[in-house]
Amino acid sequence: MTTPQPIALFDSGIGGLTVLQALTQQMPHESYVYLGDTARLPYGTKSPDTVRKYALGIVQHLLTYQPKALVIACNTASTHALEAVQNFVATQGLSIPVIGMIDPAVQAACRQSQNQHILVMGTSGTILSGAYERALRLLNPSVKISSVACQMLVALAEEGWTDTDIARAALQTYLDPILENESSKPDTLILGCTHFPLFASMIRSLYGSEIHLINTGQEAAHRVQTKIKRASGHKETMHFLVTDDADRFCLNAQKFFSDRIHKDQVSVVDL
Ligand code: DGL
Repeated sequence: MTTPQPIALFDSGIGGLTVLQALTQQMPHESYVYLGDTARLPYGTKSPDTVRKYALGIVQHLLTYQPKALVIACNTASTHALEAVQNFVATQGLSIPVIGMIDPAVQAACRQSQNQHILVMGTSGTILSGAYERALRLLNPSVKISSVACQMLVALAEEGWTDTDIARAALQTYLDPILENESSKPDTLILGCTHFPLFASMIRSLYGSEIHLINTGQEAAHRVQTKIKRASGHKETMHFLVTDDADRFCLNAQKFFSDRIHKDQVSVVDL
């Protein structure tokens, strides 16, 4: 039995593993190749041009794996580079789907929100760009949007400090001003950075389980399912590429996939 063409995805670091987790849950028979740009993390503080340049370099490399789909498993790169990547893929004469994080999340948020007041958490780059606001308003011009840049959470997630007092204090600093206001509270929160689902349980414990949390990776994985010919009967395979420090990445990745990840599945690439 031949190995299926892989689904390729990338992020600045470990955040995209929340997307890979969703993909493997929804499509367990596929091959996956994941690139974490650990040498150049974080993306959220970089300019749009820089993130676009990084994304295009990564995509060029991932295309050598002849993927059947490309997933930009990073909201910041989806914000700044989705169109450029789609154009690049087309200029290569390829017709593979390129899926970003924003549109699937926006669709889910508008569908789930009862009061059409949506809170978007993202990196500085994503929030400053206004990409979520534009996409939400396109779908529902009268939607009420609150947004907050939570860049510090990326560093805490990469450090593995998601369930700590520092994380709690950071979340409260970012979210209390919006979610403590009982009269006009958003009922739906887009975790608009793929690192942020790691804080989902703390957000629920702080602000209650009734708030709808939108995990961008899960929504994007649903979208991928509709765009590919799914493999069946194959054993899932995962290969990881990083631009720096394979050991550290491997330790972090094991927290997501435990014994499904071994050191020999992680290699360093020089882009
Ligand atoms: N995980 C990424 C995102 O979804 C990027 C975080 C960062 O590198 O700043 O935006």
